Amino acid sequence: MLYLPADAPLTPGDLVRMARGGGAVRVSGLEWQPTALFGSGRAALAAGLRALGIGPDDEVLLPAYLCESVVSPVVEVGATPVFYPVGRDCGVDLALLDAAIGARTRAVVLIHFLGFPGPVEAVRDLCTRRGIALVEDCAHALFGRLGARPLGWFGDVAAFSPWKSLPLPDGGALVLNRPGLVAAEPSVRPSTARSAARLGYRALGTLEMAVGWSPRLALLHRASLRRGLHDATSGAPVVDEGMSAPARRMLAAITPQRAASIVARRRANYMQMHAAFAGLSWARPLFGALPDGVCPLGYPLVVEDRDHWRDVLLARGVNVRTYWEHLPAVVDPDRFLDAAWLRDRILILPIHQGLHGRQVGRIARLLASLETRS
Ligand SMILES: Cc1ncc(COP(=O)(O)O)c(C=O)c1O
Repeated sequence: MLYLPADAPLTPGDLVRMARGGGAVRVSGLEWQPTALFGSGRAALAAGLRALGIGPDDEVLLPAYLCESVVSPVVEVGATPVFYPVGRDCGVDLALLDAAIGARTRAVVLIHFLGFPGPVEAVRDLCTRRGIALVEDCAHALFGRLGARPLGWFGDVAAFSPWKSLPLPDGGALVLNRPGLVAAEPSVRPSTARSAARLGYRALGTLEMAVGWSPRLALLHRASLRRGLHDATSGAPVVDEGMSAPARRMLAAITPQRAASIVARRRANYMQMHAAFAGLSWARPLFGALPDGVCPLGYPLVVEDRDHWRDVLLARGVNVRTYWEHLPAVVDPDRFLDAAWLRDRILILPIHQGLHGRQVGRIARLLASLETRS
């Protein structure tokens, strides 16, 4: 029996670290600028847009490949989301981005998809030249670097969603890089009951892994339940909520050494998975080799007949993600054909720090066995 969760589950070691954690939160890797803490990445994004003075009558450019939770902060501050194309490799065509900037455009949001840096230096230059702000969406890119710089350094503001990479009950972080910017304090206090429930949910992953089975696998086969889950997570409204006490304690307990070991584990798992892909015909990696400095969120595959392969992997105990099988209704799939192409083909294999080489090896052997049957 095998069950491998999609995200890093909460372990007893994490709980011990949480109990020991305390004091001021200095988020490892984000110490270079004032960082405001929120309950979610979308709340951090909305606070970043507000700090930039963006509101009604303004437009914000967003990549056409994204989920509702990146659009909703723009709508929340009263601005209008406008989209620019993303290629089948998640790349950005700078000429098309430049052409999409209009008289009311105040900011460009650049997403570092799955932790892989977008063309952030070139987009930084473009934004400076056109006199608009760069919002770096680092929701997938905690601990990532580009050359000597941490991701989140390039934007006027940068938003993180640390609960995606760490087993926290919640969490969003906003980094303000432009001098003089100030973020408002979150107006809603986090609910203790909800963060306890979320901690329990994340701890369940450890139990399920130990038993080698999870009810999630059966549930995720059902398209209607997947849609419901998507609506309840990506589609959830932006609440201007602070980070919960357990999440703060856990973040405070992540030392630079611990962060480095998480990055090393994720990178090693990614590379091991990547080696397994040489010669597979039914799937190909979205990004290929791992550039220096990347802390990958997952291992993205491009597959034809994605829903079939998802079912196959779920049936074998591997919890795969899609990131994103539904685009927001405001993105026109007939106009953004490559975003729709990705939406229909992407699958994300787990490579998080909760998995060791042996478990990644099991996924690799499974992939090879599927090759002979495909
Ligand atoms: C690229 C990106 N940005 C922002 C967010 C919002 O983060 P959160 O779910 O913490 O609100 C998400 C969530 O999936 C995301 O994928």
